[in-house]
Amino acid sequence: MKISPASRLKGGICVPGDKSISHRAVMFGSIASGETRISNFAASADCRSTIDCFRRLGISIEQNGSDVLVRGAGKRGLSEPSESLDCGNSGTTMRLMSGILAGQDFPSTLTGDESLQSRPMKRVIDPLSAMGAEIESSDGCAPLIISGRPLRGIDFEPPVASAQVKSCVLLAGLYANGETRVTERVVTRDHTELMLRQFGVEIEIEQRADAKVISIAGDAALHGTNINLPGDISSAAFFLVAAGCLPGSDLRLLNVGLNPTRSAVLSALDRFGVVLNIVRHDSTGEPSGDIRITAMPLPARAEPNILDGPIVANLIDEIPILAVLGTQLPGGLEVRDAGELRVKESDRIRSVVDNLRRMDAKVEEFDDGFRVGPSRLKGAVLDSFGDHRIAMAFAVAGLLADGGTEIVGADCAAVSYPEFFKDLEVIAVRDE
Ligand code: S3P
Repeated sequence: MKISPASRLKGGICVPGDKSISHRAVMFGSIASGETRISNFAASADCRSTIDCFRRLGISIEQNGSDVLVRGAGKRGLSEPSESLDCGNSGTTMRLMSGILAGQDFPSTLTGDESLQSRPMKRVIDPLSAMGAEIESSDGCAPLIISGRPLRGIDFEPPVASAQVKSCVLLAGLYANGETRVTERVVTRDHTELMLRQFGVEIEIEQRADAKVISIAGDAALHGTNINLPGDISSAAFFLVAAGCLPGSDLRLLNVGLNPTRSAVLSALDRFGVVLNIVRHDSTGEPSGDIRITAMPLPARAEPNILDGPIVANLIDEIPILAVLGTQLPGGLEVRDAGELRVKESDRIRSVVDNLRRMDAKVEEFDDGFRVGPSRLKGAVLDSFGDHRIAMAFAVAGLLADGGTEIVGADCAAVSYPEFFKDLEVIAVRDE
């Protein structure tokens, strides 16, 4: 994919439906009784993997563009798959499904592509084993061979801040004897909690001074419902940063998810001097709204910008694109406490540092993050490292650079946003 520099962005975009919420809507709809209708379902290869896996478990799922109809079979209605379940590149599919499959009365195998097979699964195997599950893995990695066993509720505190691990344990809790409790010291995205309630599950959430405690009863049942998804804020972030770095841009992003556990990127942008105008919608489920950005030059203040501590968990997927923004900030950007980036679809600290260096940026790598100094980016040949967010973040870097940029392996953007490059071309202005 070749990217040439742009002078500004202009127009309006509806980014695809939220990927995290789309996965959950299909999963919960499959184990609910009755039908679930999902609108604005994510156009994303990852979410297609989730649909394919549930079809293999015997669920009837009809997809017509971004409308999806799931004919739920109830909590005990899944059937033994005849082949392994291929989660493709999707960590969310594998980790959440392992929670659902651990308590079934049939065996199943979860597998995925090369990247997914190298990602840590011990973080879900450990709590599930404590609940009574039997899971064989390849040294803590997929394929996961799940026997399907009766489970018992546990009291669990995830050792890593991870919504996937939390959700996996809560889903297994739906199949366990007694109550399952998850204590979160660092709050992560809460789509599972919000959506379980939409499916009629009574989960208890206690906000303590130092932790959030979520409890779920093993006998809870899910009832099919209608889910209307907002656009994915993690996809919107690429355009927000691009527009914010190109003065004169006037861009509207319509119907973007504004869940507070996901929207820390907006406060970070505000903090770094990117002015956003947000109009919130009246919504009952997930919060959403429209964002307009009429970009002025970034402020000239040179104090260092730092992202560290608990906020990192709430903008973890946006860090690659924030690294690109960091090159345009007079004070640069330092990111810390982000070691989790090393076990995403690629080692995102390495991928970001490597590509930024190829573009001549001043950048330093740490175990748990990086520091990028204010830099004039030079067009270069870059690598996506097979990682959708790296491909899209560096497409934006290409817009800001001097000279042309080429991204090798950019088609992996389809993992979350198949039309990304087309949409970018529609709003990029190059005539000045
Ligand atoms: C996700 C949680 C996050 C995030 C991923 C989607 C989810 O992963 O990075 O893109 O849908 O629950 P972790 O749970 O590993 O932090």
